[in-house]
Amino acid sequence: EKGEYRHFMLKEIHEQPRVIRATTEGRVTNTRVLEQALGTQAGNLLEDVRHVQIIACGTSYHAGMVARYWIEELAGVPCSVEVASEFRYRKHVIQPDTLFLCISQSGETADTLAALRQAKKAGFRAAMAICNVPGSSLVRESDLVIMTQAGPEIGVASTKAFTTQLTALLIFTLALARHNGLEESREADIVEAIRLLPGQVDQVLALDADIAEMSKSFMDKNHSLFLGRGAMFPVALEGALKLKEISYIHAEAYPAGELKHGPLALVDGEMPVVTVAPNNELLEKLKSNLEEVRARGGELFVFADKAADVRPQEGIHVMPLPSVHPITSPIVYTVPLQLLSYHVAVLKGTDVDQPRNLAKSVTVE
Ligand code: M6R
Repeated sequence: EKGEYRHFMLKEIHEQPRVIRATTEGRVTNTRVLEQALGTQAGNLLEDVRHVQIIACGTSYHAGMVARYWIEELAGVPCSVEVASEFRYRKHVIQPDTLFLCISQSGETADTLAALRQAKKAGFRAAMAICNVPGSSLVRESDLVIMTQAGPEIGVASTKAFTTQLTALLIFTLALARHNGLEESREADIVEAIRLLPGQVDQVLALDADIAEMSKSFMDKNHSLFLGRGAMFPVALEGALKLKEISYIHAEAYPAGELKHGPLALVDGEMPVVTVAPNNELLEKLKSNLEEVRARGGELFVFADKAADVRPQEGIHVMPLPSVHPITSPIVYTVPLQLLSYHVAVLKGTDVDQPRNLAKSVTVE
């Protein structure tokens, strides 16, 4: 039931503080991740993992792309991420000490399941799943499972499934990292950041009316560009996917550093540029990318840490966001992009919950 909300998508966006908390509950203490909460076999299976291969599609693939930054930074374990439909149709090499990690909301995505079944023949250390549907094929066929506690997701555009996948992936990363020398104080620092997430997402949801106002600038546009650096690049990809899916506006995401290598040629007054800019070590570099866009007459929409000193001026619209831990910022910064695409779609009058040509669960290739 939609209750007070006009669409399931909006309801699901607003459920995020609660479902992120539910995904955390019982899995962390004040300072640590409870490895046994990931399964009694978790400690044993994670002990000798030397490589992580992530497989997924669509939004779940973007969650995997964020996780790669975390896994390599915190656990120091090499991680590859690939869309299932590509992985399954190429000759691939899997090392025996690989953790094969599938991410799927439904647990029934045909390509993801096919990739897992195929990889099993080649052999690997363990199959792990991050999934939202208990009893799904993916859950049944995996050795280790972390359920996202998002509850049923009805809107075709995935929202709460994504942020709970990220929450589960970060908890998993900390467990893996502990086997690979992560200091206790660092773990405690990140666990604290995870516990702050529901409150921070609430603060972003309170910006709903401001984001609705901003969305008016996109209504008459046919194209848009999304930029981010580091783990915010997959967040930009996810923001662009949301906009395409439900508002049918062409949206492309680029790592901000690639701007000069091609996409800058597209920038003019008709091409809004959306940027996610938390206050991290890449902020200064991102700011110079923004200048490049502005100098070409591009209109910028910047979702920036309120402490980051990105000032609104002619051609630059700034949406100030709460200051968050750099590790958890991809989770918090996803939410305003969901709201942006939601409001653009509402203004355009498209079918928000059932976008044309798409199905919730892609059980055929
Ligand atoms: O159920 P899954 O997570 O395996 O689904 C994967 C994609 O089909 C899904 O994320 C799709 O991209 C969504 N419609 C995105 O909003």
